[in-house]
Amino acid sequence: MGDKKVTPQLMLTVGTAVIGSLQFGYNTGVINAPQKIIESFYNETWFDRYNEPIPETSLTSLWSISVAIFSVGGIFGSFSVGLFVNRFGRRNSMLFANILAFISAALMGFSKMGASWEMLIIGRFVVGLYSGLSTGFVPMYVGEVAPTALRGALGTLHQLGIVIGILVAQVFGLDMIMGNATLWPFLLGFTFIPALLQCILLPMCPESPRYLLINRNEEGKAKTALKKLRGTTDVSADMQEMKEESRQMMSEKKVTIPELFRSPVYRQPLVIAVVLQLSQQLSGINAVFYYSTSIFEKAGVEQPVYATIGAGVVNTAFTVVSLFLVERAGRRSLHLIGLLGMAASAILMTIALALLAQVEWMSYVSIVAIFAFVAFFEIGPGPIPWFIVAELFSQGPRPSAFAVSGFSNWTANFIVGMCFQYVERLCGPYVFIIFTILLVIFFIFTYFRVPETKGRTFDEIAAGFSQQAAARVGKHPPEELNSLGADSQL
Ligand code: GLC
Repeated sequence: MGDKKVTPQLMLTVGTAVIGSLQFGYNTGVINAPQKIIESFYNETWFDRYNEPIPETSLTSLWSISVAIFSVGGIFGSFSVGLFVNRFGRRNSMLFANILAFISAALMGFSKMGASWEMLIIGRFVVGLYSGLSTGFVPMYVGEVAPTALRGALGTLHQLGIVIGILVAQVFGLDMIMGNATLWPFLLGFTFIPALLQCILLPMCPESPRYLLINRNEEGKAKTALKKLRGTTDVSADMQEMKEESRQMMSEKKVTIPELFRSPVYRQPLVIAVVLQLSQQLSGINAVFYYSTSIFEKAGVEQPVYATIGAGVVNTAFTVVSLFLVERAGRRSLHLIGLLGMAASAILMTIALALLAQVEWMSYVSIVAIFAFVAFFEIGPGPIPWFIVAELFSQGPRPSAFAVSGFSNWTANFIVGMCFQYVERLCGPYVFIIFTILLVIFFIFTYFRVPETKGRTFDEIAAGFSQQAAARVGKHPPEELNSLGADSQL
């Protein structure tokens, strides 16, 4: 199980899957830079329809809806993951989801021609649906095809896809590239290209062997898929491990969402998965990614758009750092370091913003603080919550677990996106204190509750949780409590 071989087929498979993550990132970042340009399109369209300029409040509402409807789509999409993955398989679910990407690209790309902000808003909703589905499909598929020793590193590629998507969107959104009055429909319609690429490449990728064996009982096909992925004919160790998982879950073939909530066996991993997702979003990261330009502007930075791109570069660089650390340092310690570093950076940012009026160079301190905030995010809280869900649950409950945790993530994303500007108006420079408090709470939770999952098979992780649940209801001797390993604090 210590196999660390990255075969070309494995790279192609994971690389193709994370095109879905790239789409999510791209559409997260794309709406930031061209705000003014698209707002003037709304204004002109309004004028043509009603013969008067758009009232300020209507424009603000239309814009907020255009931004936030994406996460509403994400909420619905992520919650529906379980409807598809067992019926169509992991790979085909990803393939079919591209229909949504094409529809949204057409709606957004032709919205200017159709003189319709409705088309743009519906397009954002549809691409949100696609992205919500992707945040379940991609980490699930990647987690299931990866060898145990590489699960964290390959899982981090989902986040790397997201951050590269954000960065590409920030760069393409520059005035001189596509963020201008003529080209913005192309900027939004661009979603069409990765969708096409994924449709071409996915048929060359195998279905998840775990799905084939455990869900469909197709041993021959599972073996063929594994041989391709591992680049060897001897896949007996992997097959053995999957059969073990399959044997364990015969009694719980498919776990529905209500069953997931009812069963004491899943309570602990479910709480951990949901709280980690909340720690990702309520850390305040998207306050930066949705509003960085205006934050930098208020901090007196002269070229806020470039500072935003700087944040995107730091974001990408530190995801790569995490990629190399995660199999060595483990998930738990990286998440802890990330949360603590973010809390410290948030304090620094608060000090910088509060002293801005008196001390001029504080605007530089604020840039450093935001960059550090982003860097620490990508060390742990960015990538880990996404892929740890696949690790915390075995095949039966995995789809429902993805649905519940994805739903929590997207709901928190929506809340931060909607409320940040209002809360900022109330709290002024002290707004990041709220995130600092939350970060400290999440640090304490992670310290006491989150076990290390590095290097353990899905089956070993699940067995650890079942034994604890059993011990809690008195079926097993208490010494089994530490079965998840020495660094487990459960
Ligand atoms: C994570 C979050 C996403 C955020 C991104 C920033 O993937 O889920 O909401 O925008 O990180 O890098």
